[in-house]
Amino acid sequence: MGDPPQCLRDSLRQALRQREDKLCRRKLTILPSTSVDFSSNDFLSLSTSPAYRARFLDHLQLAPPMHPFASGGSRLLDGNSAYAEDLEGFIAEFHNAPSGLLFNSGYDANVGVFSSIPQPGDLIVYDELIHASAHEGMRLSRASKRVKFSHSSPDSLKAVLQTETTADPQIYEGRRNVFIAIESVYSMDGDVAPIREFVGIVDQLLPNKNGYFIVDEAHATGVFGPRGSGVVQAMGLEDRMFIRVHTFGKALASHGAIVLCCADTRDYLINYARSLIYTTALGFPFLASIRSAYELLAEGETEQLQRKLGRLIAYFRTRLDGLNIKDTSTFEVEHFSNSPIFSLRSNVPRELASVCQQRGYTVRAIMPPTVPVGRERVRVCLHAGNTVEEIDGLLETIAMWLHRTERQKTRL
Ligand SMILES: Cc1ncc(COP(=O)(O)O)c(C=O)c1O
Repeated sequence: MGDPPQCLRDSLRQALRQREDKLCRRKLTILPSTSVDFSSNDFLSLSTSPAYRARFLDHLQLAPPMHPFASGGSRLLDGNSAYAEDLEGFIAEFHNAPSGLLFNSGYDANVGVFSSIPQPGDLIVYDELIHASAHEGMRLSRASKRVKFSHSSPDSLKAVLQTETTADPQIYEGRRNVFIAIESVYSMDGDVAPIREFVGIVDQLLPNKNGYFIVDEAHATGVFGPRGSGVVQAMGLEDRMFIRVHTFGKALASHGAIVLCCADTRDYLINYARSLIYTTALGFPFLASIRSAYELLAEGETEQLQRKLGRLIAYFRTRLDGLNIKDTSTFEVEHFSNSPIFSLRSNVPRELASVCQQRGYTVRAIMPPTVPVGRERVRVCLHAGNTVEEIDGLLETIAMWLHRTERQKTRL
């Protein structure tokens, strides 16, 4: 018998070496605080906004003396509060939804929804680029079948639904539920889903109204739609979505998420979503920070940040378009709609990211398995707090690297 702990460590090390060999070993990094942020999801720069800080501190001060800062348990035990319930009502009203249920993170929200709501016999149809947390929830789900469709492709969704309704008449007859899982803005490419077209296809192919959309608005929250309310509200499709997930850890400078849904679904999740039931609920400081962000949204205070971000996006886009790119395998820009997320695709993303980091710009190389093989990139996120000078500096660094790389290639 060998030494079991040593054996385990050996196999862990071997797994890490495999990742190393494939150039995809993940590491925790801390970049200098002086580095310019072109990476985080703090799109509105709310986390450093004086207005947000002041509002948050006000909320903390308003709490009566001895008000517990810890939640003290699961929402179902001691972790519930009038403050949490009032916040859910406030957010649901802002998003024009019947009700909402807070989760500790977007990850927990997606795991809770997908693992508990689809029933045996049901079908989940999901966009191939849906977030890992939705996959985790689907993996735990009792749904009979999960089928992916090509990213944001109405034709592919249509083909999948046609195949499934033909194969199983109960789907067409409305005796099985079909869940359509999408994001409104995708985290890696920043593209906006064609939700309206998807709704049309579902109406046509599932006329018995058994098609239920679950849309994750993580990257749209605060940035897209009127007062940052999201893509669904911008399209006026609130009533057509069964569930909307908004997360607070990105543009809202906080933590946690809300599942917007009807009262029955909320009640069901309280009873069956294990990622809600078996975990300590958000404590008062987090609830207060979420409240602060939503108050600023609701009062229209963040609209000027949305506008400034929009101007920076247009500026960066124009400057990127002006780059002289000879070889698109070395460098290619992918940018969709008016998203603050830019994908700088490259076959050497680590090299490009490292040059930018050395010059004081925080950007990150995104490698498989986070993105499919062949889709490696440097992901650049713009923020309302970035300046034109910072963008110019990043652009000059990219142009310098591009020039050097192309010169090296022609010498070979
Ligand atoms: C689309 C999407 N959904 C859900 C999540 C998870 O949200 P959270 O970070 O709040 O767990 C993320 C990112 O982390 C995301 O990009």
